[in-house]
Amino acid sequence: MGADSSKFVDFATQLCLSRGKHALPDLDLQLPNESARTTTLISLEHLNVNVPEWDSANDRFWLKAMGLALDSRAQGVCQTVQSAGGSLKGLVWANAGLQQIHMPLGEPPPMEAQKPPGVVGLAYADIMGLRATLREAGVNFSPVPLKDQMSNLQGVGPVALQCTSPTGVKIYAHGIRSETWLTPRGWMDCTAARDQGLGLPSEEASQCMGMPYIRLQCPVGSTEGLARFYKHVFDTQSEFRQGAEGLECWVPIGVGQWLIYQEIAAEVPYDGYHIAIYVNRFVSAYRAARGLGIVWNNPRFPNLTYDSEDDAIRHHEFRILKMVDPESSQVLCEVEHEIRALSHGGFCAKAWLEQEPA
Ligand SMILES: [Fe+2]
Repeated sequence: MGADSSKFVDFATQLCLSRGKHALPDLDLQLPNESARTTTLISLEHLNVNVPEWDSANDRFWLKAMGLALDSRAQGVCQTVQSAGGSLKGLVWANAGLQQIHMPLGEPPPMEAQKPPGVVGLAYADIMGLRATLREAGVNFSPVPLKDQMSNLQGVGPVALQCTSPTGVKIYAHGIRSETWLTPRGWMDCTAARDQGLGLPSEEASQCMGMPYIRLQCPVGSTEGLARFYKHVFDTQSEFRQGAEGLECWVPIGVGQWLIYQEIAAEVPYDGYHIAIYVNRFVSAYRAARGLGIVWNNPRFPNLTYDSEDDAIRHHEFRILKMVDPESSQVLCEVEHEIRALSHGGFCAKAWLEQEPA
């Protein structure tokens, strides 16, 4: 892509300096009306999966083969968590356009390696180039069966290939037409996005342009309750679709992303991976989650607890673990969500907030 890497590092500095500039966590970003989505979920920003160590296999897969780019903020975050007593031994953040895969290193068993039960969708402007880097890196890849093409994604082609990370994270790679990043307001030319102050502090530009979805397996009969959960906590209207394996609940995020729950007729394991989502109406979401009794402190991050609304506001985030049907209080499944206010220092489109009407 020929990007000037110094721009990314400069942007990292700006992000750090601007943290705390916004005292209120309830900053909202307007989405274009034409998106026809009812959602307060603005950005599905990262998937966090522990890996035992940053060995040559992980380096080859995520950076050389898949074209993600190291994020320069990870070391500082790692030191903060370690200073608070966290058990991680290292931390790698790999950027995929404006989204990320977070990989804490050296967590003790049974948390040393994690993978979501499902697939992570990644987008590439150059699928032929991706095939070449996969071959050069010795990474096996294969076609995806026609019945599972995931082809109803705005601006994104059907799945071009599938592959799996050294620790079992399954990837579907999709083609997009040009070098665009997936922003909360949809696909946007990378240069134009940088000019508007969007970006993540990559040491070099990522060849991966974004993460349009994560699709997670869930137990049969749970999608209706999950839809009610997102409506109750986040005032977000999900869609139901019939997928290759069964009924699916598609939760809209921003203009171009989805969190998809796919019912399967089998037990669904949960190993402690998490996802991070930036939201509008942060305080309302916290209050709704508290009302359901599902606000959760992850002991892996002893510096981050959310026992009160003030705690959540101070950290610009809170976490939930158990997904509960608000009608029945039944626990449907476990998926740790890291819920962040747009005032959180890591938000990729902070520059847009400056332009929002007060
Ligand atoms: Fe996280």
